[in-house]
Amino acid sequence: MSQRVLTGITTTGTPHLGNYVGAIRPAIAASREPGVESFFFLADYHALIKCDDPDRIERSRLEIAATWLAAGLDTSRVTFYRQSDIPEITELNWLLTCVTAKGQMNRAHAYKATVDATLAAGEEPDANVTMGLYCYPILMAADILLFNAHRVPVGRDQVQHIEMARDVAQRFNHLFGKGRELFVLPQAEIEESVATLPGLDGRKMSKSYDNTVPLFEGGAKALKDAVARIVTDSKLPGEAKDPDGAHLVTIHDAFADAATRAAFHADLRGGLGWGDAKQRVVQLIEAHVGPMRERYAELVAHPERIEDILQEGARKARITATPLLAELRQAVGLRRMVAVSQPKAAKAAGAEKSAVPVFKQYREADNLFYFKLTAADGSLLLQSQGFAEGREAGGWVKRFKTEGAAVLADAPVTLGEGADRTAVEEALAALVAAQE
Ligand code: TRP
Repeated sequence: MSQRVLTGITTTGTPHLGNYVGAIRPAIAASREPGVESFFFLADYHALIKCDDPDRIERSRLEIAATWLAAGLDTSRVTFYRQSDIPEITELNWLLTCVTAKGQMNRAHAYKATVDATLAAGEEPDANVTMGLYCYPILMAADILLFNAHRVPVGRDQVQHIEMARDVAQRFNHLFGKGRELFVLPQAEIEESVATLPGLDGRKMSKSYDNTVPLFEGGAKALKDAVARIVTDSKLPGEAKDPDGAHLVTIHDAFADAATRAAFHADLRGGLGWGDAKQRVVQLIEAHVGPMRERYAELVAHPERIEDILQEGARKARITATPLLAELRQAVGLRRMVAVSQPKAAKAAGAEKSAVPVFKQYREADNLFYFKLTAADGSLLLQSQGFAEGREAGGWVKRFKTEGAAVLADAPVTLGEGADRTAVEEALAALVAAQE
């Protein structure tokens, strides 16, 4: 079976270099591997947790979609969609919410960080916590589990969420799978060398720290300006510098092949000045990002093209999502009502045929109780004799449903015209499956 790779990007800010290196690039690389089926999406429901500015949400969705496409995503190979175009995600979110322990959500880093910051500001712990934030990992689990993803490329800060998704999947399988794996247990995948790209100040590159290097925004000039602001130590040109631990070097290495890395490290040890080093970093990144920036500008100028691509992606995604959700609804007990006894309606309907085989119990003019089994096409498979008591007929029906065609040996029934034991077996199996 092919491996499914899935990841999402929250559509709040404008993509920066950290998003590209930590998520977009490894995901696109993974999508080109043979035997891989990829699902990439805009996590716009997650964006609503962090942002209540509609214009920013709209703008960011467009920019992030354009970024993925400009970065070389091949939408004929991957399924590329918006979270909010897939209603099955919110439906699954609820099914998962109902099996997720509150205590587990209490331990989620994102929520805890907000509580800590609020306490530090002297406020009530929950003052800034919406239920969206609190349940954020459940929505993320729904994103992942709905597509039965095996691998989830993410930044290191998201690993806890993938572990939570595994836990929830396991609990759900255990509760409702009846020995079957309804959900695949996903695995986080971190690009080890550049798991979290440092920002200008050395902390994780993040919108929330305002320490990002822009990917396309502001063009080559903005890239150059940002790199100029990367904090280094105060060693002068000619002094030996330690490449290990300098975040300029980490950013460089994220774009360099092994030989270029080695040369850069050696030159720094040999006294390369930080100014010259930064110029090399700018050139290196620009060579990589420049051509993508042109494609990006073209796409952003044509949002309707992006919309079409995403609509097609949603259609593809739902081909996978819809049957799984139907199965899950069955598993938890949200099932179609299948009446065991509906003789009058069936007779009155005449030509109308049920899609599944059906047992009918009824009473005849002789005042006796009967049952019969009809196939999905309406043909008669089994006809019982008459019983004095209705519950006797009901008892046999129940035995057929639980014990299958073996009951034929004991039951006071005759086979319908053209029906045989195999037909009865198949009908009983279909009936049981439809009710599960
Ligand atoms: N929470 C992730 C982030 O902020 C984005 C995300 C949402 C995601 N759903 C996901 C990532 C599912 C991977 C899989 O980075």
